[in-house]
Amino acid sequence: MEMKGVILAGGSGTRLRPLTRLVNKHLLPVGPYPMIQYAIQKMSQAGIQDIMLIIGKQSAGLYLDYLGTGSEFGVNLTYKLQEDAGGIAQALALAEGFIQPDDKFVVILGDNLFESDLGKYIEAFVNHQYSSMVLLKEVDDPSRYGVPILDGDRIRMIEEKPADPKSNYCVTGIYFYNGDVFDVIRTIKPSERGELEITDVNNRYAAMNRLAYRILDGWWTDAGTFSSLLEANERLS
Ligand code: TTP
Repeated sequence: MEMKGVILAGGSGTRLRPLTRLVNKHLLPVGPYPMIQYAIQKMSQAGIQDIMLIIGKQSAGLYLDYLGTGSEFGVNLTYKLQEDAGGIAQALALAEGFIQPDDKFVVILGDNLFESDLGKYIEAFVNHQYSSMVLLKEVDDPSRYGVPILDGDRIRMIEEKPADPKSNYCVTGIYFYNGDVFDVIRTIKPSERGELEITDVNNRYAAMNRLAYRILDGWWTDAGTFSSLLEANERLS
């Protein structure tokens, strides 16, 4: 089955200011490459060729300069602009049309860097016919993240930055959905910070007992802060 990919690479990158006043977060260097290249490589290595890149207006020309059509990376890139950083779920909603109702697809947040190959997770998602699946990672400080309450092979609920985490896992920025995710996004409302939250989307699936998970092998980091950007550089240099 042909899977498609969506990479979210908009956002405002406030935690990496002032660097991100100059350039979008995903174009900052990580080892020898701009950050965005890693998500593209992971998809390409897993056999995903058709990729939509959601970007903001900031640095839009630089993305085109560096990535072009994607042919150099063995993929076929389509670009879409997110006018304002209204949240991860808002960015994802822009992929409707590129993703058809019967498609299955992978979403990677462009600032998530990881070691493992995506192939086996894609296989699990397709073979089990899950509606939605997220990858989890064990972390020392789950309270900083979205933390799942596990129930067999499903997630019962994800708690956002809980004071009293119910597991040692965080939800990473690697998600698998069917084309019906766009209908789910339409049912959610902006959060207190005014964003359409991916956790609210995932919790809709969880409430229907339709949110599966796998544990991500190998190292993982999101490179959204100076300390995690440094860690990513050390891993990938
Ligand atoms: P975040 O790290 O949650 O947000 P951000 O990138 O704007 O950074 P900060 O919190 O420091 O201001 O975003 C996670 C990923 O999702 C990141 O790779 C960018 C992407 N994203 C979008 O594409 N559009 C959006 O509206 C948001 C909020 C994030």
